[in-house]
Amino acid sequence: MRNKKLVVLSGAGISAESGIKTFRDADGLWEGHDVMEVASPEGWQKNKALVLDFYNQRRKQLLTVSPNKGHNALAADIPGLETEIITQNVDDLHERAGSKQVTHLHGELLKVRSTGNPSLVYSWEKDIEIGDCCEENHQLRPHIVWFGEAVPMLDKAIDIVQQADFVIVVGTSLQVYPAAGLLHYAPNHAPLFYVDPKPASVSHPSIKVIAEKASTGIPKALNKIKTLL
Ligand code: APR
Repeated sequence: MRNKKLVVLSGAGISAESGIKTFRDADGLWEGHDVMEVASPEGWQKNKALVLDFYNQRRKQLLTVSPNKGHNALAADIPGLETEIITQNVDDLHERAGSKQVTHLHGELLKVRSTGNPSLVYSWEKDIEIGDCCEENHQLRPHIVWFGEAVPMLDKAIDIVQQADFVIVVGTSLQVYPAAGLLHYAPNHAPLFYVDPKPASVSHPSIKVIAEKASTGIPKALNKIKTLL
């Protein structure tokens, strides 16, 4: 018999217990910054040094934190179940926990790309400075999907969600589209668990809300799924 497919849609909340602040818990400010100043093409044109500094700090912080029980639970092997993760997060905590199939909708903090040739993407752990260039001599920028930019992984993500037998949505306020709309591509028969201590209101035929933190809510959702395999 084929493995059943669990699709996980994760947002900032799953990394909160690792010490990474979520976006909307901070009242429109993101680590003290207006989101549009540091995460939009307009912000980049206005002040590249500020944007680079912001992401340099985020990258430094990421290298000091670790995956938590929520990431670990999702990476654990469950016989008969194949797990695919679609994350809005730019951290690599799902990968470090051991998850093998992770799609990053909004880019990755540990990658950079050329501002002149978007196909040139590099792994990057240090700071990006003004003057750091790709091999074609264009300035490098964070490999992040900013507000107002296209979401290149969206079609792949829709394909994955459409194949789901089970869905877990975790740690997202479901405010940012198109990511927030993805759960509606899941087949209606697929049980859908939404783990979030302050869940947004969602209308969906098979949703079960688990109003808890990721560390306790994800194991509960997985235990329920195991009984359905
Ligand atoms: N466990 C699970 N969920 C949590 C936890 C926790 N320990 N702590 C907080 N949360 C929840 C909050 O209740 C909130 O609903 O995580 C959610 C975080 O919401 P947002 O900060 O809006 O994060 P997210 O939905 O991922 O944001 C989407 O916005 O700025 C952009 O591109 C950025 O990917 C990001 C997107």
